[in-house]
Amino acid sequence: MSSGIKTVVENAVNKIVAHNPDESLLVAWISIYPVIRLFILLDKKNLKKPHFYKFMGLGDGLIPSDPEIWKVRRKLIEPFFSTKKMKDHAENMYQEMESFGQRLHDEVGKPIDLVHQIHTSTLNIILKSATSIPLDDSMEDKKKFTKLVDKIEPNLCRRGTNPFYYFDWLFKFFEFGRAYNKTNDMIAEFINHILAQRMEIFENALNEPENQDFIHLLEDKIDEQGIHNELLTLIIAGHESTAVALRWILFNLDVQKKLYKEIIQFFPDDAPLDDMDKIKQCSYLDQCVKESLRLNPPVYGSVVGIVVEATHHDPKVYPNPKKYDPDRWSPENASKIPKAAYIPFGYGPRSCIGYRYAMIELKIYTIQIIRKFSLRSTRPHGSISLKAELL
Ligand code: HEM
Repeated sequence: MSSGIKTVVENAVNKIVAHNPDESLLVAWISIYPVIRLFILLDKKNLKKPHFYKFMGLGDGLIPSDPEIWKVRRKLIEPFFSTKKMKDHAENMYQEMESFGQRLHDEVGKPIDLVHQIHTSTLNIILKSATSIPLDDSMEDKKKFTKLVDKIEPNLCRRGTNPFYYFDWLFKFFEFGRAYNKTNDMIAEFINHILAQRMEIFENALNEPENQDFIHLLEDKIDEQGIHNELLTLIIAGHESTAVALRWILFNLDVQKKLYKEIIQFFPDDAPLDDMDKIKQCSYLDQCVKESLRLNPPVYGSVVGIVVEATHHDPKVYPNPKKYDPDRWSPENASKIPKAAYIPFGYGPRSCIGYRYAMIELKIYTIQIIRKFSLRSTRPHGSISLKAELL
């Protein structure tokens, strides 16, 4: 992100964090967009997303879509996250974690950059869940795709904060406009390739109810471009934020021993990790994940995201707010935290549809890594600087 944009976003965040909650109205600005105080943003009737969401390159996918399209699509997509489906998703996650654990094993004792490993691994999982493409298929294409995904956010920031870039007919004449369109074209190519690959796998099996995947939920109900956009949205939303969240969870190493003790009670040695009841019983794990999402919300910077940061650091709700303290989420303490003061997955009807999927994925990852490895950081905690982003 350019330092200019970073400053604009950070100023808005700081203003919101510092504002007096008793004042009736606060407005901070990002380019020409006002960011207005929490109670207005969380209005349940407000289903429309700000215009700059259109610059994500997701077309009419669920994240940026206008309310009329969103209402129909959200209903069609919800069954993908049903309790029954979650069991299949957990099985995929566990399979990927087995080979992820194996890959890490080869690196024991050496410093390892987990960023790209985790990013590709979460991409493997969402692709398998959504399209049944085998986990370790097309690894080179996947690596290229994660590099393209990294460009979406800076592209959005740059386009969203410069009014000269708003109109497509004008935008394409700028050098940046051409680079932006090229990135989106390459992302679209990847999705087309995935759709073609899925067709090959499913040629004969698509009519079997047990083989019905994400695309099947949409087929014959929306047009081809809509299916393309929804798959792209699911893939983008379904792997990057989870990867970022996971890195933060693993970075809070002070709790490793306590977490390990709990985890091996339920998941000793190579016990399968797709047992949802047992995962639910890991209460300290749940507290650690929740606390990490409070302190470092991965979706930080969308209009809602900025308020997430401010809300999660309100000292009235979270005493000593900068401290990582999973005990805030112990049963007796958690009941005192107001619902709207904890919004890593957003709030209201446009909140995260993949919330349960993400929580299970984060837990399965953490269990596998903590039960198999002891982590040490090559960098002290305080040396990590936060990145303010529009998405
Ligand atoms: C830790 C991981 C995750 C976090 C923190 C997160 C957070 C969020 C937030 C804050 C929103 C609202 C965004 C806004 O209003 O601008 C959102 C929306 C969304 N998320 Fe997630 N998310 C995560 C994982 C996932 C996963 C795993 C999926 C899919 C498998 C997913 C799919 C979506 C979709 C499709 C939307 C748009 C929902 C709508 O408008 O109806 N997310 N997410």
